[in-house]
Amino acid sequence: MLQELAELRSVIEKDLAALQQDASADALEAFRLRHLVRKGTLAALTERLRDVPKKDKPAVGKELNALKVLAESAFKRLTEERAAHAESVPTLDLTLPGRTFRHGAKHPIRQTLDEIIAIFSSMGFAVSEGPDIEDDFHNFEALNFPADHPARDMQDTFFVNAENADGSPRHDVLLRTHTSPVQVRQMLNQKPPIRSIMPGRVYRNEAISARSLAEFHQVEGLYVDNGVSLAELKGTLVAFAKQFYGSDIRYRFRPSFFPFTEPSAEMDITCFLCGGKGCRICKYSGWLEILGCGMVHPNVLRAGGIDAEEYTGFAFGMGIERVTLLRSGIDDIRLLYENDVRVLQQFV
Ligand code: PHE
Repeated sequence: MLQELAELRSVIEKDLAALQQDASADALEAFRLRHLVRKGTLAALTERLRDVPKKDKPAVGKELNALKVLAESAFKRLTEERAAHAESVPTLDLTLPGRTFRHGAKHPIRQTLDEIIAIFSSMGFAVSEGPDIEDDFHNFEALNFPADHPARDMQDTFFVNAENADGSPRHDVLLRTHTSPVQVRQMLNQKPPIRSIMPGRVYRNEAISARSLAEFHQVEGLYVDNGVSLAELKGTLVAFAKQFYGSDIRYRFRPSFFPFTEPSAEMDITCFLCGGKGCRICKYSGWLEILGCGMVHPNVLRAGGIDAEEYTGFAFGMGIERVTLLRSGIDDIRLLYENDVRVLQQFV
């Protein structure tokens, strides 16, 4: 028995030396299961103590006890050291799956606008903005809308409850129905030459559908100087359309009407989906309308404080949602605002 105890001592001492090198949770647990549990090595020898001859018992008992104390105290010390160490050094589990970070990206409307701005900046246009809440003067009157023009009707315009300084109600405050009032502000603010584009949000009292929203974006353009001509209007817009839609598009200007331009036109380009043959996007006409434009009406120049004898100008306006839809082939405008990542991801 003493012989066996000596052998066990050397095993335990060897195991403890190894634990000294690697006191991992697994190694500690293996030591405990081998030596310290009820079916462990020490318990097994303790069991056999009763078979030891009486005269040998004190010596065997003493050695067995010494071994137990050694194994238990060393195990306790190593376990505590390990716990203290784990507290000070957070464990890094390299086997955990990584966290995926989703990248944000510009909204398609912002992307379209940035591209439009880049193209017009390269042609010398500055960018300016005006307020979303406008008054009848800037939104309609200065833009040569007759007093009884249907565009002023409650059907189209969101009016805003507002008060004069004396507390009486004002009936001429509204959410702008287009970005054209920024033309007026720009003319009142700056002497010609004026060459600006004016992006912003606009509001119309319309039923929401696949084709229209009550809130959308436009970008306006204005160029006023000595001798600005219709040829320059066409040249500028054709240069824009070729850069924005592709150099192989064909285009046409159709006569149109806006109170604030004379003459007025709408610009169409050949449908880039079908190349002009006719498809769902161009409603089988082969053409897509992309913007409204014209020469600034002399009444508008005058309302903007500009001498209409000396200066001429051109203006244009386009819907940013509309051109985004046309370019992407999406046929429901609401998809741009539902923030469904499956849609938005296609614009990254
Ligand atoms: N303001 C017009 C609209 O909302 C567009 C336009 C702007 C037309 C400038 C001509 C010149 O439809």
